[in-house]
Amino acid sequence: MENYRLTAPRYEAMNYRRCGRSGILMSEISLGFWHNFGGSADPERCRAIVETAFDCGVTCFDLANNYGPPYGSAETMFGQIFQRSLAAHRDEILVTTKAGYDMWPGPYGEWGSRKYLMASLDQSLKRMQLDYVDIFYSHRPDPQTPLEETMQALVDIVRCGKALYAGISNYPPEMAAQAYAYLREAHVPCLVYQGRYNMLDRKPESDILPQAAAAGVGCVAFSPLAQGLLTDRYLHGIPEDSRMRHSPYLTESALTPELLARLREWNEAARAEGISLAQYALRWILRRPEVTSVIVGASSVEQLKDNLKAVGA
Ligand SMILES: NC(=O)c1ccc[n+]([C@@H]2O[C@H](COP(=O)([O-])OP(=O)(O)OC[C@H]3O[C@@H](n4cnc5c(N)ncnc54)[C@H](OP(=O)(O)O)[C@@H]3O)[C@@H](O)[C@H]2O)c1
Repeated sequence: MENYRLTAPRYEAMNYRRCGRSGILMSEISLGFWHNFGGSADPERCRAIVETAFDCGVTCFDLANNYGPPYGSAETMFGQIFQRSLAAHRDEILVTTKAGYDMWPGPYGEWGSRKYLMASLDQSLKRMQLDYVDIFYSHRPDPQTPLEETMQALVDIVRCGKALYAGISNYPPEMAAQAYAYLREAHVPCLVYQGRYNMLDRKPESDILPQAAAAGVGCVAFSPLAQGLLTDRYLHGIPEDSRMRHSPYLTESALTPELLARLREWNEAARAEGISLAQYALRWILRRPEVTSVIVGASSVEQLKDNLKAVGA
């Protein structure tokens, strides 16, 4: 793995890693839009987060059709911010989106059919006001649809120029191997695997990371801070404005006394190094050469800046 530092002012502080065996470099930190950019989010705060990210050298913005709530609203928010602040920099940015989870009613609104993936990407492009995305992901494996159908849809999406690269997310290792093989044969090699990897979930170290590296596929880690657990957010109670209070995806039951004790230990270790727990957790992931980028979420500019310091940006 090579580490790059680019020279234009915006890029001075950020490191860039090569994504598998490809021509693409990714900023070590990507910004994710799963939470914090939905319909009820403050547009000015969202704009400040995105502009701060870009100004600090983040080139990768990670979306999906269903990010919000409501579904689609994070893409709409991103599109508005992009048009206002980033459109002149389109060629300096990687925009990624995905389809796989439930998006609209009826039999064609989720999973991995060609019908769903094609329609969903067209909808995403409209919401984001873009002609193409840089990476289009199959967001989850579909046990019912033949893998060949899903992969051929990715191939055709790339061939018609609506996405420049294809990726997969949340696939188990056996299906990932088949996906890599299909895409390689079709001359649209899988650029990147996106999966959860953090100090509380080390499973990818035994399968997904070495497998992707051997296949020449990059890896990006999502939920690197375990949705905020691996920060100082919950060390002294549950703040009213936290994800644990407002999202069904992070519940109070996760915060066991055992976990809290581990978090406090890690926090002490981080403080001994003079860094925050969030920075400690991000550096821990980036110690792995197979990891191309970590996708952080942030509900404020301050959180994002704290996270960016993990890589000196
Ligand atoms: N492919 C997939 O299936 C999949 C699944 C999940 C996520 N993702 C991608 O990965 C991205 C990141 O996931 P995530 O949002 O779960 O990431 P995360 O970085 O693990 O958690 C983000 C949350 O942690 C808290 N936080 C972040 N930085 C902090 C700091 N420095 N100090 C204190 N608290 C901090 C904030 O919580 P508060 O809101 O409480 O302030 C923030 O909303 C998503 O946006 C999405 O793009 C992909």
